[in-house]
Amino acid sequence: MMKRLSLRICSLFVFCGMFGYLSAQDNLENRIEKMLSKMTLRQKIGQMNQVNARKPDGKLYQQIRNGEVGSILNAEDPVLLNQLQKAAVDSSQLGIPLLFARDVIHGFKTIFPIPLGQAASFNPEIVEEGARVAAVEASENGIRWTFAPMMDISRDPRWGRIAESFGEDTYLSEVMAVAMVKGFQGKDLSDPSSIAACAKHFIGYGAVEGGRDYNISNIPERQLRNVYLPPFERSIQEAGCATIMTSFNSNNGIPPSASKFLLTDLLRKEWKFDGVVVSDWASVSIMVTQGFCEDKKEAAKKAANAGLEIEMVSGCFIDHLEQLVKEGAVSEETINNAVRNILRLKYKLGLFDNPYTDLRPERKIYAAEHLKAAKKAAEESFVLLKNEQDILPLGNDIKTVAVIGPLADAPHDQMGTWCFDGEKEYTQTPLEALKKQFGKNVNFIYEQTLAFSRDKDKTKFPKAIEAALKSDVILLFVGEESILSGEAHSLAGLDLVGAQSELLSELSKTGKPIVTVIMAGRPLTIAKELDLSDAVLYAWHPGTMGGPALAGILFGKSYPSGKLPVTIPRYVGQIPLYYSHEKIGRPAKKNEVLLDDIPSEAKQSSLGNTSYYLDAGFDALFDFGYGLSYTTFEYSDLTLSKDILSKDEVLQVSVALKNTGKREGCEVVQLYTSDIAASIAPLVKELKDFKRVTLKPGEQQVVTFDLPIQKLAFWNYEMKKVVEPGKFDVMVGGNSVDLLTRRFTVK
Ligand code: GLC
Repeated sequence: MMKRLSLRICSLFVFCGMFGYLSAQDNLENRIEKMLSKMTLRQKIGQMNQVNARKPDGKLYQQIRNGEVGSILNAEDPVLLNQLQKAAVDSSQLGIPLLFARDVIHGFKTIFPIPLGQAASFNPEIVEEGARVAAVEASENGIRWTFAPMMDISRDPRWGRIAESFGEDTYLSEVMAVAMVKGFQGKDLSDPSSIAACAKHFIGYGAVEGGRDYNISNIPERQLRNVYLPPFERSIQEAGCATIMTSFNSNNGIPPSASKFLLTDLLRKEWKFDGVVVSDWASVSIMVTQGFCEDKKEAAKKAANAGLEIEMVSGCFIDHLEQLVKEGAVSEETINNAVRNILRLKYKLGLFDNPYTDLRPERKIYAAEHLKAAKKAAEESFVLLKNEQDILPLGNDIKTVAVIGPLADAPHDQMGTWCFDGEKEYTQTPLEALKKQFGKNVNFIYEQTLAFSRDKDKTKFPKAIEAALKSDVILLFVGEESILSGEAHSLAGLDLVGAQSELLSELSKTGKPIVTVIMAGRPLTIAKELDLSDAVLYAWHPGTMGGPALAGILFGKSYPSGKLPVTIPRYVGQIPLYYSHEKIGRPAKKNEVLLDDIPSEAKQSSLGNTSYYLDAGFDALFDFGYGLSYTTFEYSDLTLSKDILSKDEVLQVSVALKNTGKREGCEVVQLYTSDIAASIAPLVKELKDFKRVTLKPGEQQVVTFDLPIQKLAFWNYEMKKVVEPGKFDVMVGGNSVDLLTRRFTVK
């Protein structure tokens, strides 16, 4: 009896709970419909219009009062935001609040490493934490929508925006994108510290031909689904990403801002996305230049009918949609659906109830815990590429250090690209941090030598040599100014710019040990510099706390654990060069540069028939997933729970990992799989999981992965996402090349 009663009571609770959820959902949809029913066509279109507020003038205030603006980007002063908001809430007929947006890409005031650097940590927790910090700082300024994470799969370092990406790998990008969305959006969008995330750029922008920004891409649907779309899909399905931004590149001849396949068939029908789709900056009007539309009116028509909902700054919607509806070229239902999604986002953010920014005096920007998180992220982003004779970490025997180069004390450039609101006054540089942390026992001699990375003036070289000759070790800080990566900053060459390489050559003649620290927004072709250095640490652009992080790592207060999220080529001519490429019929067998060894009048087929360059061999300078630490690790005993499995089973994979060195270290254990044969050319390997494992010297641990066989699914010849039966290899190791391998079969 009691049992039945308790069953009834708990089912009642469940029903109420469900009912409670349903009523909240119903309540939201009712509020949306109620508001929609009050709106004129022009007011609806107003919600679809996003305006740039770099200079908020009388015209903008009038547009707001007319209900012709739904969201604003690039206003970031909270007092101004409240003034703009007041005009909307108090003076427009319906009082619909504005949504304020900003590019908060890797920090608002406290700047974290560029996303490519954050990806090198292989640690989603620090990525989520960084986004949370950014959301807290941006939202207290009134920003409630960020145009991040950028999750374009990027395999061409000539493209400056690789800096904003999570690199070349689909799985790593999925994991980091989900983490960053969660960090921005927090537990609930209605929390005042939550900001709506934006999965961008939809789609294929990282594959622009030639690495030239704003160029075209030609990615077939199957490759879109297997390589480029997964981070977007998971950001929506797993993290509830609130918005999506369409990209500039036309893909297969269609600009995504007017692609019905992408914005309606895929996003809405297949993925059931109920968020908002925003264009990129004027990507609607640009379709006229792309020759895809005759004029801005046709651009408005094609974009709206494809499913674009908010137009960023180019004014096609606000100028032409009303007429297009009257002409029947765009249905009012299309407008209604767009406005429903926009209103839903604003209700979810709580803007109707709390439209204003709380101008409370105590601010969280640059809070100690924020700086601490930024330092940790920087530490984990560094990738140690070379460490001859364990020169690092620097020991107590080091009494004099020559700190040389244009990036040793470059507070602006250290922050990297896309940090609109970062303030260089708060950047702590390597020079400052080295002196502060170790200046008591170490004499640091600083010679900038080159005023900036592109500087070709060698007149200060002698002073650098003089400092080097007095030192026990040289710390050389070179790389790229921040302006050299990011949007519209493609490079045709990836060698160190200016006279940086010559400076290194001259310093190497002193015979002093050289530790080269590279700050850059992309992989650079550093083969020559690698040979001239005893140690090389890739620091990306490490952000506000890059200095303390680097100083601690260089002197052993912490240790590097990062792994490359992107391949580093030997030559720019090898690009695109990435690890997870499709299998080919004649892969290169060995890495050899034949050019100088070819006999004259060599016979046509005398050099073999495999896929490599006569003048460059085939391998990368450094492969995806590569990174050293201050200790060494040994992998052994790769074992599988079963050799034959069905599609719905989970394969347990375990490997013994031992710290065989003298120092503690953290190893990113990587698990790859390879499909031996499939209905389309399978990839040579692809990352499916990874784990960060910290071990003390001599410590050994069995690292176990659960690999659901469903994770092997891919979009096949019939364009179905399936696991095809057959043989597979599973590979585990500390990078994408040195791997233990075992084979298994899927029934
Ligand atoms: C830019 C970028 C996009 C950014 C937007 C707003 O052109 O392509 O990533 O979010 O405009 O600044």
